Amino acid sequence: MGEFHTVCRVDEVPEKEGKTVSLGDKVLAVFREGGQFYALDDFCPHMGASLSDGHVDNGTVTCPWHAWRFRLRDGAWADSPRIRIPCYAVRVVGDQVQVDPTPPPRPAPPAPKPPQSPGGDASRT
Ligand code: FES
Repeated sequence: MGEFHTVCRVDEVPEKEGKTVSLGDKVLAVFREGGQFYALDDFCPHMGASLSDGHVDNGTVTCPWHAWRFRLRDGAWADSPRIRIPCYAVRVVGDQVQVDPTPPPRPAPPAPKPPQSPGGDASRT
């Protein structure tokens, strides 16, 4: 884990909305839903829309251009969770929203399935 940096004040991110912030060379989208704050890359991987302008509801942000949905808690594309955009740890200190720009480690991909024998289940002889 790296260091947290202040990116904005709490009252600059209304409930169920996003805000674009800069942190070093990154452009991030900070969201607030249910009193929790989240931070994702602001760049939609489809065609580059600013996700901070998206619709926030039920733990996701919907891209304002073509409606791809991303989970706020981990950046996963809701329709194909293998695709993720970077998300970042967020904390609130006083009235400051702080983000750690170090992306968390990606989860390991699922193990491949063993090959099926062409004759079906060999245990049923
Ligand atoms: S630019 Fe985001 S869904 Fe197309």
